Amino acid sequence: MWLLTVLVSIAIAKQTPAPYLQNLKRPLNIAHRGASGYIPEHTLQAYDVAAYMSADYIEPDLNPTKDFHLVINHDNLLNETSNVELLPQFAYLRTTKTIQTYEGNITETGWFIEDFTLEQIKQLRAKQRLSFRPKTFNYLLEKITIDEALEWAIKENENRKRNKKNLVGAYIELKNPTYYNSKGFPVQQMLLNTLKKFGIDDIKGANEKCPIILQCFELETLEFFSKETDLPLVYLIDSGSGLPYNMTEYASIVHGVGPDIGFIFNTKYDSTGFVALAHQNNLFVHPWTIRDDTLPAGFTAKQVYLKLLYENIDGIFTEFPDSANTYFNL
Ligand SMILES: *[C@@H]1O[C@H](CO)[C@@H](O)[C@H](O)[C@H]1NC(C)=O
Ligand SMILES: *[C@@H]1O[C@H](CO)[C@@H](O)[C@H](O)[C@H]1NC(C)=O
Ligand SMILES: *[C@@H]1O[C@H](CO)[C@@H](O)[C@H](O)[C@H]1NC(C)=O
Repeated sequence: MWLLTVLVSIAIAKQTPAPYLQNLKRPLNIAHRGASGYIPEHTLQAYDVAAYMSADYIEPDLNPTKDFHLVINHDNLLNETSNVELLPQFAYLRTTKTIQTYEGNITETGWFIEDFTLEQIKQLRAKQRLSFRPKTFNYLLEKITIDEALEWAIKENENRKRNKKNLVGAYIELKNPTYYNSKGFPVQQMLLNTLKKFGIDDIKGANEKCPIILQCFELETLEFFSKETDLPLVYLIDSGSGLPYNMTEYASIVHGVGPDIGFIFNTKYDSTGFVALAHQNNLFVHPWTIRDDTLPAGFTAKQVYLKLLYENIDGIFTEFPDSANTYFNL
């Protein structure tokens, strides 16, 4: 059943999708911020553990530094996942700004990546975002750039190719591109230049060295990429925003949608029909995010992964890639 649906969606796909955009046997295992259930998110070590746990993709989120490096961090602020507030040399950088996001304008106080140089970012050490997760590696690991992550992935893949194993890819998100553009950071072009530098700015190069998927909450940025590259594009949507979705519109620009689980299941965790509708529009569906330690009431991790599998999703963002590997390969 699962296989049949996948084959049908391939047959009617609008363009030649990248070969690495699907796995015919099971959904893609996308390690949300790395194996962040175990290791502080977006560190090289969180990515390495995710790859060891058979994730197909690590998932870097990008924000620019003052000196135009793309640093990997989920938030534009640094305090949730680093020791920035413990370091007196950075006290002067604490400030308040209004940021344009897909959820509207948000005023925040804290330490903004765009005010730091890369050399300053490298003085920070990462910590677990969620207080109930293992703290063993807190304050030991560095924040990294997208260049460092891609160097790691390409090297890992050279070994994998020698051993005839599947490659590990990077499923890259630009955070708040409209805001950064308004502040003079051409983040879309910066990312393209980085991908070019590694020879992975198109499907051909990416397929050989490091599978690349680009994701964003802003459709305009994905439209920009659709003109510059044939790399697969995924539009992220958030049911919390309350905005209606338009699959026809998305399908004219991107290859897939990344909805939060709230689009896939209702509050009782029954299907909403979202996945089937997306598939009718030739869109792959990669929902976010499964956290084995923060599950919906009354469900085990196994039940949640299997519910998603039976819903025919094409990939899942999980913070526990070992679980996805176990339950998607039963
Ligand atoms: C980080 O800063 C934000 C914004 O000032 C604040 O809401 C949050 O509680 C802080 N988190 C931590 C872990 O300090
Ligand atoms: C958000 O702020 C920007 C820049 O100040 C402004 O152009 C835009 O209209 C604001 N958006 C909303 C939804 O208020
Ligand atoms: C959805 O998008 C299509 C294509 O952009 C457009 O023609 C259509 O009017 C939109 N539908 C709604 C309900 O907004």
